[in-house]
Amino acid sequence: MEIIKTAEEMQQRALELKRAGRVVGLVPTMGYLHEGHLSLMRLARKQCDVLVVSIFVNPAQFGPNEDLEAYPRDFERDEALCEQEGVDLLFYPETENMYAGDASVRVDEDALSGVLCGASRPGHFRGVCTVVAKLFNLVQPDLAVFGEKDAQQLRIIERLVRDLNFPVGIIRGPIVREPDGLAMSSRNKYLSETQRKNALCLSRSLEQVAELFGQGEREAMVLREAMANLIRSVPEAEIDYIEIVDDTSLVTVDEIRNDVLVALAVRMGDTRLIDNLVLRP
Ligand code: PAJ
Repeated sequence: MEIIKTAEEMQQRALELKRAGRVVGLVPTMGYLHEGHLSLMRLARKQCDVLVVSIFVNPAQFGPNEDLEAYPRDFERDEALCEQEGVDLLFYPETENMYAGDASVRVDEDALSGVLCGASRPGHFRGVCTVVAKLFNLVQPDLAVFGEKDAQQLRIIERLVRDLNFPVGIIRGPIVREPDGLAMSSRNKYLSETQRKNALCLSRSLEQVAELFGQGEREAMVLREAMANLIRSVPEAEIDYIEIVDDTSLVTVDEIRNDVLVALAVRMGDTRLIDNLVLRP
């Protein structure tokens, strides 16, 4: 496995691969890899000749009071996992190398970014869109895989690719969960033993919604209330949002007639967790 640490080298290597007619797949990550990330690598592997993984904790997508400094990092472990997964090229740049000190051009998506996580994390998706556009220019991938765990991010990236004509096929990777249902996340590491148990309220509330929906319930308010009641009964859990939105426009719906995204964010102490589910009538 080749490790590249600068943007310049990465782009040069990508152009060589392109000229050689290789199909390049990219899995962008912020590291501290878990089975969720690895599942995306396996998906990409099937469809490309050269598998590139990027590990970059992108400061531009963290708010001033968020966990940029505390974000878990373990490059050696990540490197070994990538090696095991048959990654061909690991891109691991430094912040100073990725962003010029006076960088002043950013990518803004302004229809899907203001709701859900974007409402509680202003500027977050500008940071995500900007770094993903940069990664696409540096790695020149034919395809890139993003996880459904970050449902809003995935839809915004699809919009970015459509609206700015990036020649990149976006592949959706299903959410990978712990055996008890908790969606895997690098941030689960922050949870105490008790919080870890209580964190099951996110996936449980989604299971409950799926069941009510299966029984014919179509009122968004009824479904959201059921979720809220379950989560309110859990110590330490504080609801950031519970939303049922149109799966494409991310606009709130009252009655479920088309595909909807049920998404929630819950704070367990200092840790903010997200999860989601798509309901298809
Ligand atoms: P990160 O949180 O490291 O996630 C990298 C990719 O892994 C994202 O596409 C995310 O949706 C996916 N992922 C995380 N947990 C998952 C799970 N349990 N199941 C399936 N996929 C999962 O998302 C980011 O980094 C950043 O915003 C990034 C896109 C790299 C831009 O900086």
